[in-house]
Amino acid sequence: MIQSPIITAFGLKKTYRGASKPAVDDLSFDVRQKEIFGLLGPNGAGKSTTLMMLCGLIKMDAGSMEVLGLDVRQNGAEVRRRIGVAPQEIALFPTMTAYENLVYFSRMYGLPGTAIRETVLEYLGVFGLADKSSQRVATFSGGMKRRLNLVAALLHRPQLLILDEPTSGVDVQSRRMILDYMRRLQAEGVTILYSSHLLDEAEKVCSRFVILDEGRRIAAGALAEILAANGGSDNLEQMFLHLTGRGVRD
Ligand SMILES: Nc1ncnc2c1ncn2[C@@H]1O[C@H](COP(=O)(O)OP(=O)(O)OP(=O)(O)O)[C@@H](O)[C@H]1O
Ligand SMILES: [Mg+2]
Repeated sequence: MIQSPIITAFGLKKTYRGASKPAVDDLSFDVRQKEIFGLLGPNGAGKSTTLMMLCGLIKMDAGSMEVLGLDVRQNGAEVRRRIGVAPQEIALFPTMTAYENLVYFSRMYGLPGTAIRETVLEYLGVFGLADKSSQRVATFSGGMKRRLNLVAALLHRPQLLILDEPTSGVDVQSRRMILDYMRRLQAEGVTILYSSHLLDEAEKVCSRFVILDEGRRIAAGALAEILAANGGSDNLEQMFLHLTGRGVRD
């Protein structure tokens, strides 16, 4: 069965003011319903820029993007209401407690007051934060902040989640918890667009990928297709080094 795309990006291009070359250059990809799709690439590849264009938070110079059937350029606010976004930079209020942060985000999403307490406590429990709910976020470890940052994107139970480096700066246990929860959401029918520079991690959770380097798409498709099309490498990391060389990218 061919599923209709939930995200269609075509010919995206973005050059930041004053930059000598584009951050994203002629990028096309599509994300299908109920998949975990990997947007991969090294530092500076253009992953976060792509995700911000997707949310309508920065303007694309060229190209088009449809999300949940909506044109992002015309309906950015509606797209943002309907999706969940966990940004790469932790987007929480450090002086507020975990509970207060989640109540704030619940109100922002317009959740009914009667449902907020129950929803917030449910997610704090799922992510192992129940006994930390009244602690200020400033006192949290990297893993706790990252988990809470993810919860903030889930409260309104969106059908599409955008996760920008959701396991950045976390230990093995937090990583496992986050990846397992992504799989659980997928099983419940949620579509996830996940960005990472961790190619081995992405191989474990994603069904399809687009791989960027210096703003350009260098490979795309399912794992077996990508590897076969690029010299029969054993894994994405090997393929990436084969295609791009070993020079650092930042
Ligand atoms: N606000 C900005 N103004 C100017 N240049 C920017 C801005 N944000 C990003 N860039 C540049 O655009 C390019 C792509 O950056 P982007 O943050 O999208 O990459 P990324 O793939 O998310 O990298 P990382 O893995 O480090 O998060 C980089 O060269 C970066 O320096
Ligand atoms: Mg980034």
